[in-house]
Amino acid sequence: KLYKNPKKTFLMLTEFQAKSLVEFSNLKCESTDKDFAEFECCALKSVNRTFKYVTIKVRLFKVPVTNVKVNLALYQRLNGLKPFLYNITVDGCKFVKNPRSNQVASYFYDFFKNHSNLNHPCPYDHDLFVDKMSTQFVDQRVTKTLPFPKGRYMFKTDWYVNSIKRAAVNIYLTLS
Ligand SMILES: *[C@@H]1O[C@H](CO)[C@@H](O)[C@H](O)[C@H]1NC(C)=O
Ligand SMILES: *[C@@H]1O[C@H](CO)[C@@H](O)[C@H](O)[C@H]1NC(C)=O
Ligand SMILES: *[C@@H]1O[C@H](CO)[C@@H](O)[C@H](O)[C@H]1NC(C)=O
Repeated sequence: KLYKNPKKTFLMLTEFQAKSLVEFSNLKCESTDKDFAEFECCALKSVNRTFKYVTIKVRLFKVPVTNVKVNLALYQRLNGLKPFLYNITVDGCKFVKNPRSNQVASYFYDFFKNHSNLNHPCPYDHDLFVDKMSTQFVDQRVTKTLPFPKGRYMFKTDWYVNSIKRAAVNIYLTLS
């Protein structure tokens, strides 16, 4: 069952308050329209055993971008991937103008907004990046702001511009 109300979700999850440790296990970026966008970089980098980070760079060929929809869905891997709590579609341009308008999207946006040049109102007339979003940072946010149960997850994001799917970015995480 998917919950769109973060307060309800929080109450539901308080029973799993064990401290989590986040590990990025995989990262996949796919351009579904290569005339529109191409990933220049999509990498999980390890500086050392404990410091890993995500870096994504995407080139945009048809700017300015003024109409963006993002579908965010979280899956838990049990016997196969099962939808877990969140599946929302957000109007990107409305959202960045007023991030408080959507609490769930805002929760996810906070993971990368300070590590990205997406962090401004539309239009987007440049290439985009998320740079050095580290395991530690994700760990702090996951464990301090909303405790998730241990397990393996996929955070799936599908990006639509002018209603056409242009790209997909999936982040695979393990919480232990
Ligand atoms: C791993 O790298 C990070 C970032 O450079 C650094 O802060 C940390 O001290 C390093 N940890 C070890 C065990 O070397
Ligand atoms: C999530 O929502 C999208 C769009 O509403 C839908 O196509 C998709 O099937 C949903 N996925 C899950 C796992 O419920
Ligand atoms: C992002 O940076 C701002 C300004 O430095 C800071 O106030 C805010 O707490 C940061 N947000 C996150 C989620 O790290």
